[in-house]
Amino acid sequence: MGNVTLYNEDAFDVMARLPESSVDLIVTSPRYNVGMDYGEISDDTDWPTYYAEMERFLTLSYRLLCDGGVIAINVPKEVRLRRDSIEQIGRRVEKIAVRVELMCERLGFLPREAIIWVKGKEDTGPIATTYAMGSDNNIYVRPTCEMILLHSKGRYYYDNGTGRRGTKDVPFLDETKDVWWNVPTRVNGHPAAFPVEIPERLIRMFTCMKDGARIPVVMDCFMGSGSTGVAAVRTGRRFIGCEINRRFFEDARRRIAGSALQLPLRSNTGFHLTGELAGLQTEFGFGGDSLEPPAGEP
Ligand SMILES: C[S@@+](CC[C@H](N)C(=O)[O-])C[C@H]1O[C@@H](n2cnc3c(N)ncnc32)[C@H](O)[C@@H]1O
Repeated sequence: MGNVTLYNEDAFDVMARLPESSVDLIVTSPRYNVGMDYGEISDDTDWPTYYAEMERFLTLSYRLLCDGGVIAINVPKEVRLRRDSIEQIGRRVEKIAVRVELMCERLGFLPREAIIWVKGKEDTGPIATTYAMGSDNNIYVRPTCEMILLHSKGRYYYDNGTGRRGTKDVPFLDETKDVWWNVPTRVNGHPAAFPVEIPERLIRMFTCMKDGARIPVVMDCFMGSGSTGVAAVRTGRRFIGCEINRRFFEDARRRIAGSALQLPLRSNTGFHLTGELAGLQTEFGFGGDSLEPPAGEP
């Protein structure tokens, strides 16, 4: 396996093919069923279809994760449905996060503490994603945050860990608080991208680099613009990414390759690509077997 393997393919097919227990951390954001234009796939299905897809994704994820591996799923707390939903399904809000949490537990995952990601800018505060606030006799509460749901497979402890504790030694002290309000947001052309800082924090929290141990594998099954791939490369982890949309895939590949080129390399033999560049699968490495662990990495 190269350091980075990208598939322009349906994630469900890729996940079914990859070996069992081969991934240390999944960081991903599935579609939210809010009618986004993703081209190849519909983001506007009925809710039973949506949750059946989610259950399939979680079942495949469970199989892929190693014991002690973690899955981090970014979803909205809830989504507000269309006006006709009250007549059709009797409610105007779909509680995605709580349903996915309960589904994870039903499928055997161990729950971890969830994170609330407040969307906004440090200097201007939380930004609501809609102006719609209803009427004076029926207020809508406007969303300014999303959830990052965290679950473990099998056990809470991760094999490669050093077991070290103590505030002085934790390079990500702020990240261990359950509200992330200060994540810089940048637009990168994808309609639903999360900033690289989100997966980068999660990678540092839930995988460890240790001398002599194998390099952890991070996967994003719905990689969109490739933010998780960029974070994995920056932190020296291996990465597997799937994206069904051809244009998003190409953008992600360029971004991830670009971030690899910016790395300080231990053996500066240069960045190389292998595999069929225009094909469905791309693998690339960075010259030498391993990346230099970033400074300050435990
Ligand atoms: C919410 S976006 C993820 C955005 C990503 N986190 C980022 O930072 O750019 C979901 C992505 O999943 C892709 N997608 C949806 N279903 C897929 C599938 N079955 N296989 C592969 N990709 C899929 C969509 O095209 C979309 O780009």
